[in-house]
Amino acid sequence: MLRAVRIHQTGGPEVLTLDDVAAGTPGPGQALIRHGAIGVNFIDLHQRTGRYPLPDLPVTLGMEGAGTVEAVGAGVTVVQPGDRVSYVAGGHGAVPCSYAEYAVMPADSLILLPDEIDDVTAAGMTLKGLTAQYLIRGAYPVQAGETILVHAAAGGVGLLLCQWARHLGARVIGTVGSPAKAELALAHGCHHVIQYGREDVAARVKSLTGGEGVPVVFDAVGKDTFEASLDSLKVRGTLVSFGTSSGPTPPFSLFDLNVRGSLFVTSAGLAWYTRSRPELLQRAAELIDVVTRGAVKVPVMQKFPLAQAAGAHRALEGRATTGMTVLLP
Ligand SMILES: NC(=O)c1ccc[n+]([C@@H]2O[C@H](COP(=O)([O-])OP(=O)(O)OC[C@H]3O[C@@H](n4cnc5c(N)ncnc54)[C@H](OP(=O)(O)O)[C@@H]3O)[C@@H](O)[C@H]2O)c1
Repeated sequence: MLRAVRIHQTGGPEVLTLDDVAAGTPGPGQALIRHGAIGVNFIDLHQRTGRYPLPDLPVTLGMEGAGTVEAVGAGVTVVQPGDRVSYVAGGHGAVPCSYAEYAVMPADSLILLPDEIDDVTAAGMTLKGLTAQYLIRGAYPVQAGETILVHAAAGGVGLLLCQWARHLGARVIGTVGSPAKAELALAHGCHHVIQYGREDVAARVKSLTGGEGVPVVFDAVGKDTFEASLDSLKVRGTLVSFGTSSGPTPPFSLFDLNVRGSLFVTSAGLAWYTRSRPELLQRAAELIDVVTRGAVKVPVMQKFPLAQAAGAHRALEGRATTGMTVLLP
């Protein structure tokens, strides 16, 4: 038996229960991983509340983990027992599984970790770092000299994205929800910080860009920032929408994008940018490279025991976290 945090019904953080469940054994193509640390992500909240439906309940929540391979099933060649690995429970419709002492994962989804990256760092950086990577290297390849706008800059994805974009030579404007978050964002890649809620985001962006606007906005806040994002873009700029932390983005008219300056909008998802093992490994190699070289730091700011996953969820949805949050089994 092993300890797992599961949901038997959707709802608030109180639906997370610590259960004893049967330990899995790896089938063909699978590996058994003993977790050293487990990543907490905003998507976990959407799955817990039922906003992103899960196929069957009860289910062990969580999409990201890091640890050591304990056993492998038939035909597995990409990892062996003793290897240290991390993973994102991948693919659309993928069943989460990481809030547990152990997970059985497709071996093809595992990323081998170098010694310099410990389990806590790996559990903090894998899903969020691959997201930062595909956003600024795939969805909208950020160029040196460009000024970009990143919402929720002090969050998990935000801190990684801002540091990485600055490393690429971009000038980074970040939005944040409080003065303390502003300080953190400025220490992790942002050149300028705007406190949304208190300031007019688009007006500040325009004044920071000589009235022109930015070529790209990375927006995972959704409902509360959508209009300001469009208003912050320069002519033919791109809105990369990749999350809805404040609620779903409102419907909009296609023609409105023409009126506002022939704008581009994409709604992006990590699974679509890691569709094959070679693509996953190429993105992971870039991520591991910038982290091991120290160009991108992984601030794991909150650690909770696995049994207190509900506390982690309350903090994340209450906007009380910064950077990465992990659970320790
Ligand atoms: N599409 C993809 O491939 C992909 C992959 C990973 C993550 N995501 C998305 O990226 C976003 C960031 O994920 P994360 O795990 O790193 O979370 P996070 O950014 O650490 O936490 C969310 C942050 O959003 C801000 N926020 C604004 N309005 C909010 C509201 N009403 N409720 C809660 N938070 C609000 C808060 O920062 P302030 O207080 O500073 O506003 C909060 O700290 C999420 O929307 C997630 O779903 C998408």
